[in-house]
Amino acid sequence: MEKQKLLYEGKAKKVYATQDPKLLIVAYKDDATAFNGQKKGTIQGKGAINNRMTNLLMARLEREGIPTHLVEELSDRETLVKKVSIIPVEVIVRNIAAGSFSKRYGVEEGLEFDAPTLEFSYKNDALGDPLLNDDHIFALGLASREELALVRKYALDVNRLLKEIWRACGVILVDFKVEFGRLENGTIVLADEISPDTCRLWDAKTREKLDKDRFRRDLGGVEAAYAQVMERLAKGL
Ligand code: TMP
Repeated sequence: MEKQKLLYEGKAKKVYATQDPKLLIVAYKDDATAFNGQKKGTIQGKGAINNRMTNLLMARLEREGIPTHLVEELSDRETLVKKVSIIPVEVIVRNIAAGSFSKRYGVEEGLEFDAPTLEFSYKNDALGDPLLNDDHIFALGLASREELALVRKYALDVNRLLKEIWRACGVILVDFKVEFGRLENGTIVLADEISPDTCRLWDAKTREKLDKDRFRRDLGGVEAAYAQVMERLAKGL
């Protein structure tokens, strides 16, 4: 399968058409942004790591019964995926307080929740991705009740499976963001990526941050952290 027209360029990925109208090619970039694009930079080697990590994790989730858009990895930065229409809702699952949760509610980073906490935000850069509750999602016509129920179930299943996978690699899954899309026939599948850009990953022993927070917060060692979690996952899977 070959890349044809560039359909879309996002902050971290490009999406190309292919000869098959039902398939797309995603190409991962080394570009990194934070704070809704206000902070910009490059994380050398990130594109290849995020491509590989997303595909390893999605293949595993697929085997565990979560439908995904993954078709096959084409090269170190490119993957063939099923064409979906993305539901413009960022689905965030949190196991431990961090990031915007800690800031918004004034709780210390590291507070462990009794149960996973689900949160939705509107995937809309112009509005700054505002928080959504279920009724907002229905009022805006972003998803039906049936779709949201399935999204919720898949997100919690993904959390349970990813937590186990990362625990076996000596890593704590603090939180993550996923996106879902609809195939032509309406089937909902997991889409986008699962990577250190979209997950908070802490070393289980030291609680050292091994994810994009190193870039967001200028902690240094960004490339090394991405390489380390990739290596641990490849060994642990
Ligand atoms: P937050 O605490 O900043 O809301 O982030 C929650 C999780 O979502 C965290 O694992 C990082 C991820 N995330 C994205 O993937 N994209 C984004 O644009 C933001 C803000 C967070």
